[in-house]
Amino acid sequence: WANSGMQALIPVINRVQDAFSQLGTNVNFELPQIAVVGGQSAGKSSVLENFVGKDFLPRGSGIVTRRPLILQLIQDRNEYAEFLHKKGHRFVDFDAVRRKSKMRRTESPVITRESVRIPSICAFSHRMVMLNLTLIDLPGLTKVPVGDQPADIEHQIRDMLLTFISRETCLILAVTPANSDLATSDALKLAKEVDPQGLRTIGVLTKLDLMDEGTDARDILENRLLPLRRGYVGVVNRGQKDIVGRKDIRAALDAERRFFLSHPSYRHMADRLGTTYLQQTLNQQLTNHIRDTLPTLRDSLQKRMFAMEKDVAEYKNFAPNDPGRKTKALLQMVTQFNADIERSIEGSSAKSVST
Ligand code: GDP
Ligand code: NA
Ligand code: MG
Repeated sequence: WANSGMQALIPVINRVQDAFSQLGTNVNFELPQIAVVGGQSAGKSSVLENFVGKDFLPRGSGIVTRRPLILQLIQDRNEYAEFLHKKGHRFVDFDAVRRKSKMRRTESPVITRESVRIPSICAFSHRMVMLNLTLIDLPGLTKVPVGDQPADIEHQIRDMLLTFISRETCLILAVTPANSDLATSDALKLAKEVDPQGLRTIGVLTKLDLMDEGTDARDILENRLLPLRRGYVGVVNRGQKDIVGRKDIRAALDAERRFFLSHPSYRHMADRLGTTYLQQTLNQQLTNHIRDTLPTLRDSLQKRMFAMEKDVAEYKNFAPNDPGRKTKALLQMVTQFNADIERSIEGSSAKSVST
């Protein structure tokens, strides 16, 4: 994230977000959520876990993610996770978080979901500052019911995935393993249903380390095979052996970096591959989204202020704790913020990722 002008705005964005959540306002200021979709064992949970920089998700072969898990990355100095249905109980043992995130077998993945808050400061301190961000880990598409799964499990999961990714503010990480056929990718098919123009779909190619000897995914990663507007990011997550051996995230990210730098097909584009690059790209896209939403937001706040001021003039009984005060403060903040963003865009020479 080379654009330092934008980086300076992060604390402001977070303040605005806080102000909105305190206000409990009906004014719309939705930051995009990021959802991962893909087939069973495509590597969705692994991608998210590397992204957050903390081991806490159930991963493995077979159906491991059994219900949607909403991850809220928040600003906090301490390292802990908190389940939203158990507020105030802070888990510092992330293994316990993983165990708790595992679905009890009798529950339907469609009805239940779980929310966890994880401080992004600790998760990203060694790399970058992050926005408060919502990530969603989803069960994979399954074709055949196993165990106690209902007969219509495929439809249930499909419908559930679609409700998440249909929202215009949802960025879709469409995860496909490199050792399978991209043309039949569940992830891309699903993404295409809700985002036919690919405006908010980012391709993620996992398991590049598992491709057959002598083959590579260069034509996909260079966005030539099945082009996406936002392109593809290739990653190498930990394999099953690494999970059993408890290889930590730091070591995994180092190994990933080495893999790309030493591979003759990827070396030339190593700075656009890997987990860290995926984080940078998403950060940039979130910032673009905020930049695009702010002017409308400011206008609607302004309208609301005018209406309130009119009421006040009419009734001349502006109570000291009336809601107008908060809205006014918020409007000032957003207006200032908007001006800052415009200035930083003018002053920045960094090219935008937005399409
Ligand atoms: P999910 O079902 O899509 O959430 O997939 P998981 O993240 O649980 O991963 C499924 C299995 O694939 C696990 O055993 C992972 O260790 C393995 N895996 C995921 N990504 C990669 C990768 O890039 N390389 C290798 N070698 N294994 C991976
Ligand atoms: Na899995
Ligand atoms: Mg999973």
